[in-house]
Amino acid sequence: MPTLVIREARQDDLAELMRLERESFPLDAWSDTTMRRTIASPHSRMLVIDTSEPGTEPALRGYASVLAAQGSGEADVETINIDPVVRRGGWATRLLAELSTWAAERGAKQLFLEVRANGDAAIRLYESLTFEEIGRRANYYRAEGQDAIVMRASIQDVIARAEQRLTARATEPEREAMENMQS
Ligand SMILES: CC(C)(COP(=O)(O)OP(=O)(O)OC[C@H]1O[C@@H](n2cnc3c(N)ncnc32)[C@H](O)[C@@H]1OP(=O)(O)O)[C@@H](O)C(=O)NCCC(=O)NCCS
Repeated sequence: MPTLVIREARQDDLAELMRLERESFPLDAWSDTTMRRTIASPHSRMLVIDTSEPGTEPALRGYASVLAAQGSGEADVETINIDPVVRRGGWATRLLAELSTWAAERGAKQLFLEVRANGDAAIRLYESLTFEEIGRRANYYRAEGQDAIVMRASIQDVIARAEQRLTARATEPEREAMENMQS
């Protein structure tokens, strides 16, 4: 099994990001331009899961980005997408934990997002991280004819719950390493 590493997104990830984007959202994929702008934006942070060998082309297994304008007190999950071959491995939880920590360091207290009303896996993921529904937007995903559910969580609660869940699923050597890092 190749090693999976979380790192910052780069412009040369574009082809891989768009491949994953179109696979998961065939009717409503972001454009190349939106993806490029998000990678470049000083207000957003995008992380990717890279499985390539050093010195070879990127080979990505997922990505996520959070928008957190400095001083606004709020942040938004802009996108998250994990390759089906590594789903249920805790990767979305890891990405959201890291991006939430970054947003908190920029002063965000609350994290918002929109999710497709028929996106059961994503809704379960967000509920597992303490998000709650605060409203709906009718026909928000027009190409798919889908409503959006708007969700909100306290950033500190997301970070705490993600850490709990990741610790619970870690192997014994990984748990010891995490405890050593915290002490
Ligand atoms: C939603 C998505 C990002 C989840 O990624 P993931 O890496 O599989 O998520 P995790 O492994 O971190 O899951 C954490 C928890 O979320 C919940 N969850 C995730 N996928 C689930 C599913 N298919 N069914 C039920 N619960 C699910 C579970 O509680 C899970 O914990 P567990 O595995 O210990 O039971 C992934 O399924 C995906 O990319 N889907 C397509 C794109 C998408 O819908 N993006 C969201 C747009 S708003």
